[in-house]
Amino acid sequence: MTTYHIPALLKETLAILKPKKGKIFIDGTLGGGGHTAALLKAGAKVIGLDRDPEAIEFCKIKFKSALDGKNLKLMHGNFARIDECIAGKVNGILLDLGVSSHQIDTGERGFSFSKAGPLDMRMNKGISATAKGIINNIALEDLSDIIRNYGGERFAAKIAKKIIIARKQNYIGTTEDLARIVKAAIPDNNPAHVRHSQARVFQALRIAVNMELDNLAAALPKALSTLKPKGRLVVIAYHSLEDKIVKEFFKTEAKDCICDPKIPACLCKHKKSLKILTKKPSTASDEEVKLNPRAKSAKLRAAEKL
Ligand SMILES: C[S@@+](CC[C@H](N)C(=O)[O-])C[C@H]1O[C@@H](n2cnc3c(N)ncnc32)[C@H](O)[C@@H]1O
Repeated sequence: MTTYHIPALLKETLAILKPKKGKIFIDGTLGGGGHTAALLKAGAKVIGLDRDPEAIEFCKIKFKSALDGKNLKLMHGNFARIDECIAGKVNGILLDLGVSSHQIDTGERGFSFSKAGPLDMRMNKGISATAKGIINNIALEDLSDIIRNYGGERFAAKIAKKIIIARKQNYIGTTEDLARIVKAAIPDNNPAHVRHSQARVFQALRIAVNMELDNLAAALPKALSTLKPKGRLVVIAYHSLEDKIVKEFFKTEAKDCICDPKIPACLCKHKKSLKILTKKPSTASDEEVKLNPRAKSAKLRAAEKL
């Protein structure tokens, strides 16, 4: 079977979730089922969720025997509605965010600036927004904001202007078209700088098309409400925007009052609902990065429901 995806921070994830017979987990980002396989191997039951039908189809074949044995249930859906996966509560939830290697490496999906394909970038073909829809239609300021805010690209305004000029001449329909436009907008010709800017623009569009940050923000409270007391939530983020959402959510839910400290008495009545298990996020060892370079940016944060 071809490598769909190598799971990142697998050992660290298992050390926190402690899977064993009798426990139930939701893998909210099934992908190629790397984390799910390890949870099943430890004897646990798993609900594997992914918004990409290709991940579900791949795992139907990969886990044929586990599906027969009722230890695994596969569901196509968005983790923004993770609470709808199960009527009861579970022992642990994993969200291993972002895209799989399969998605990035499949040119027709349009996620990579280095693979020829249509500018699509939808994790789920059921959504209407596409990268080409955004690139060819939205206003200059909005395009510039997406590239700056979601990509952290310092030449965002220049790139957005080039895109607007280019789209007046020709429809921008492919990854190669966009990669070429970005290259032309970067003031220096250093190939490494160009590649970094291309990667940042593609990341920005992917986040916008799939509303990744909104989905994550919606998922975290629902994940918490789907856990049993002492149930554990593990989130693996691959860029600072995602990681910040997780960090802030954990920080807020780990304390009682969240009123402005200038207010003399508590008005919010907020009660803490989790304990943070990772003071600092766990990252991949040099050894893991050598075997799986995509794990380099992974940051794992975990919390336990009170
Ligand atoms: C990094 S991969 C997960 C890899 C997986 N842990 C493994 O070991 O193979 C991320 C997966 O999450 C899925 N995904 C991203 N956002 C999602 C969302 N909002 N709801 C459900 N799945 C999502 C993607 O389609 C992709 O398959």
